[in-house]
Amino acid sequence: MSRRTLRVSKIRNGTVIDHITKGRAMDVVKILGIDGSSSRVVTIAMNVPSEKLGVKDMVKVEGRELNPEEVDRIALIAPNATINIVRNYRVVEKQTVKLPSVVYGIIRCIKPSCISNEKSEPVKPIFYVKKHDPLRLRCHYCGNIMEEQDILQQF
Ligand code: CTP
Ligand code: ZN
Repeated sequence: MSRRTLRVSKIRNGTVIDHITKGRAMDVVKILGIDGSSSRVVTIAMNVPSEKLGVKDMVKVEGRELNPEEVDRIALIAPNATINIVRNYRVVEKQTVKLPSVVYGIIRCIKPSCISNEKSEPVKPIFYVKKHDPLRLRCHYCGNIMEEQDILQQF
């Protein structure tokens, strides 16, 4: 390794979220509920050169594996992300997240009058993905368009 190379440590057990869209590392950190209160080792790398993406962000979390809801949320904001499960220094599972064409649950409609926000008759939020980058969703119930910023705010 040359003197110019910065080494980011391998992790022993945990999760490496790789190929995160540039600028989205802190959103991923937020989705994972990482706020510095735990003693787990977390490595955040931004603007790392990447063959696939040009530059990418990366988040490594020691001692933790992600639940499906966290993976679905990450797919919304970092649709190229790879989730690597590491056990005893080895990548034992590699999952490429996928942005679905229909999003069930996960986020809510920002229009207060939307039936999906009705307390007496709650229905599961459903959104259609209209655009990937920047992300744009349309509410199944009221047709309201949700911009990327409206979605990021909910994490
Ligand atoms: N990694 C880590 N600690 C480990 C093993 C892997 O931090 N004990 C990191 C690697 O540095 C890499 C990511 O997890 O950023 C995926 O590892 P690996 O699958 O070995 O790398 P690649 O083959 O380059 O992954 P890809 O093909 O997904 O780009
Ligand atoms: Zn709505």
